Amino acid sequence: MKSFNVGIIGATGMVGQRFTLLLSKHPWFNVVCVAASSRSAGKKLKDAVGEKWAMTQPMPEDIGNLVVLDAEKDIDKIAAQVDFVFCAVNMKKDEIKALEEKYAKAEVPVVSNNSAHRHTPDVPMVIPEINPEHIEIIASQRKRLGTKRGFIAVKSNCSLQSYVPALAPLMDEFKVTKALTCTYQAISGAGKTFATMPEIVDNVIPFIGGEEEKSEQEPLKIWGKIEGDEIVPATEPSITAQCLRVPVSDGHTAAVFASFEKKPTKEQILKAWAEFKGVPQELELPSAPKQFLHYFEEDNRPQAKLDRDLEGGMAVSIGRLREDTQYDYKFVCLSHNTLRGAAGGAVLLAELLAAKGYFDR
Ligand SMILES: NC(=O)c1ccc[n+]([C@@H]2O[C@H](COP(=O)([O-])OP(=O)(O)OC[C@H]3O[C@@H](n4cnc5c(N)ncnc54)[C@H](OP(=O)(O)O)[C@@H]3O)[C@@H](O)[C@H]2O)c1
Repeated sequence: MKSFNVGIIGATGMVGQRFTLLLSKHPWFNVVCVAASSRSAGKKLKDAVGEKWAMTQPMPEDIGNLVVLDAEKDIDKIAAQVDFVFCAVNMKKDEIKALEEKYAKAEVPVVSNNSAHRHTPDVPMVIPEINPEHIEIIASQRKRLGTKRGFIAVKSNCSLQSYVPALAPLMDEFKVTKALTCTYQAISGAGKTFATMPEIVDNVIPFIGGEEEKSEQEPLKIWGKIEGDEIVPATEPSITAQCLRVPVSDGHTAAVFASFEKKPTKEQILKAWAEFKGVPQELELPSAPKQFLHYFEEDNRPQAKLDRDLEGGMAVSIGRLREDTQYDYKFVCLSHNTLRGAAGGAVLLAELLAAKGYFDR
């Protein structure tokens, strides 16, 4: 694979910091520029981040020494240096929509962690193991934007990165008709640490703005089909969600209940999880976990602290599968919210796009 020059838009933030670590030794992607708000522009990244560095490993020195550009004012400067950008910014939704379209129209492909374009019908929202074929909609999007190379591709919300993969291998054969999920979400999902979110210590906060809607609706786009110039969302399964913030640094847990048109046996579910592979595993993409879904037999697993870093934080852990009195089955699953759920998921999506030629000139 040839190598590509990339920019990180939002490099000073929680997700941006993860990108610096994931990309510093990436075999295909070479970080040549970083950008953030005008508050950070002009400073070296390491100085702009300063005390906000929230990772356990140190910031990679070469990326830390890059001077931060202004994500809004320096688009042309950035476009001249990169083959594509990752974007993870904390701005109003309409501002993010406009910003990402400006990059795309400057012929810069955007791989985004932001929610702004997740429901734009010709923007693919991709979990690479589940709906890699949705990237084919990019041809329609380029037509609408009037671009040759530029486009926007997004990853889905972090809350659903454990239960959508767990349900996916059961969809075709057994048809999931309804699912109920309660998520227990880490504070890094809000861009916070225990130092910046002291109110979470010894506490559970039963509200995360917009999260329940995303958890219920985004899976339907992921399971949707391309029809003409848009992705038409699936109509089933019906999903209901409650999302709670819990005192965990990293790792979103979900307690899931599911019913099926054709109820599988427990052995059939375990076999489907054990055998599930996608395009990233077939193509051996650098960030793809070897085994995407890991089932734990122990009653007290998965645990955020013990299992979130499985396969570099890119695998999903599942446990406690058992029959339920009201739904067919219930189980618990876990994924790392800033790795598989954010920066890592975006890097894997970019690897898929690179392997399929979408960044070629
Ligand atoms: N954290 C997660 O687990 C997670 C998971 C999935 C998706 N996401 C999404 O990823 C995005 C970033 O999340 P985060 O947790 O990394 O947020 P964050 O820690 O608050 O970082 C926000 C970033 O946005 C930049 N920014 C703010 N205003 C800007 C402006 N006007 N122009 C350009 N850049 C601006 C900030 O730059 P300054 O430092 O200069 O202010 C910073 O780099 C959000 O859309 C979030 O919903 C987060």
